[in-house]
Amino acid sequence: MTAENWTPDSWRKKPIVQAPAYRDKEALGDVERQLAGFPPLVFAGEARKLKRQLAQVADARAFLLQGGDCAESFAEHTPDNIRDFFRVVLQMAVVLTFAGALPVVKVGRIAGQFAKPRSSDFETQGKKQLPSYRGDIINGIDFEAEAREPDPRRQLMAYRQAAATLNLLRAFAQGGYANLEHVHQWTLGFLKDSPASERYHALADRITESLAFMRACGVTAETANELRSTDFFTSHEALLLGYEEALTRIDSTSGDWYGTSGHFLWIGDRTRQPDGAHVEYCRGIKNPIGLKCGPSLDGDGLLALIDILNPDNEPGRLTLVCRYGADGVEKHLPGLIRAVEREGRSVVWSCDPMHGNTIKAGNGYKTRPFDSILDEVRRFMAVHRAEGTHAGGVHIEMTGQNVTECTGGARVITESDLTDRYHTHCDPRLNADQALELAFQISEGLKKGSLEAGTDASAVAGL
Ligand code: PEP
Ligand code: CO
Repeated sequence: MTAENWTPDSWRKKPIVQAPAYRDKEALGDVERQLAGFPPLVFAGEARKLKRQLAQVADARAFLLQGGDCAESFAEHTPDNIRDFFRVVLQMAVVLTFAGALPVVKVGRIAGQFAKPRSSDFETQGKKQLPSYRGDIINGIDFEAEAREPDPRRQLMAYRQAAATLNLLRAFAQGGYANLEHVHQWTLGFLKDSPASERYHALADRITESLAFMRACGVTAETANELRSTDFFTSHEALLLGYEEALTRIDSTSGDWYGTSGHFLWIGDRTRQPDGAHVEYCRGIKNPIGLKCGPSLDGDGLLALIDILNPDNEPGRLTLVCRYGADGVEKHLPGLIRAVEREGRSVVWSCDPMHGNTIKAGNGYKTRPFDSILDEVRRFMAVHRAEGTHAGGVHIEMTGQNVTECTGGARVITESDLTDRYHTHCDPRLNADQALELAFQISEGLKKGSLEAGTDASAVAGL
């Protein structure tokens, strides 16, 4: 059933923030019409499958791993980047599955994560002031007037890049690459002798041993599809609503509206006004959706948004992505959990330990200390343990590349290392090593949780 008074373009009548000022309205209309005639990137049945898996997370029977670039870029669209990212996700998922004896739902910030909200409309360098970079789907990152002019044709490029990325991801997920029997081969060359990698190989040995046992029992990758392939879903912030509207389609089997630009769309911390355009758009699509919850959202504000975004209390529909900064978790999270519990709302609780922990290094680089990231996740899990609720997932900015963007980690990156390989188009990401290390740290928390809940954390079942 379509949400009341909702159409794919009903957001246009609402106040909107973070929207680019396109000068050439005719060209914009033209692009949006073209996009509306293009094939969907994802299918309603896939979005429903993800929703079912997220319903399991809401029910404490699975864990959500969501991650990827802060902003995808046109310049870095290479098969190696996609493959290396996918490998790290697989490695992290194995670590988490093994520790928690829970299935891991894998969602990438990929194949559509191109639009960025900005804290300021303008950027100043020296005496020059230009419009801020808003992501490759909107304008260019170079600090030049021409690049910073919003160009609607970029939406066509983004659509095509998302389609090509998704095509490769589907092949990796379903075509044999994700076969658990390859668990040792997902390691990246430059990770070879890092502590996280050594730990990973020790775990991979145990999995290989278990697989040999299962093979002897007659369960092999040839007979069990679950060992041979995996489900991998895409997500991005639903920020550029003209683009989202053009890809909003009716699913012929259910008659419902779905956003088909990605499986999972989320509302950012800056665009979650209950009467605003972004909430309006998202309430009407049936995809699983996310809501970023920053420090300014209190229990009542959250309940008001839940009423709008998940009026039927459908499990798996809504993921709350909490991002406070390590020191803010105890102050903000319990109030939200108690409000949700009191009203009996079904949600997935996920922790974004990135966006509240951004600092400026001495040399001017934007960075995030790995210890603060770890600390936020630990505190998030501890609060959930104390409240008796499920710390359902993490939402991180990461890459499969050996970048130097976040400080710290086992192979310590110092502030002066930031200049070496700082490639992000927006916020600093965990590199492959740090991402894997984070997975191990979370796995400790999951073990604690599952021991308390009385399940056997070392069980292989559920892999
Ligand atoms: C993001 O996820 O890149 C982002 C901008 O987050 P937030 O809306 O939480 O600030
Ligand atoms: Co970001």
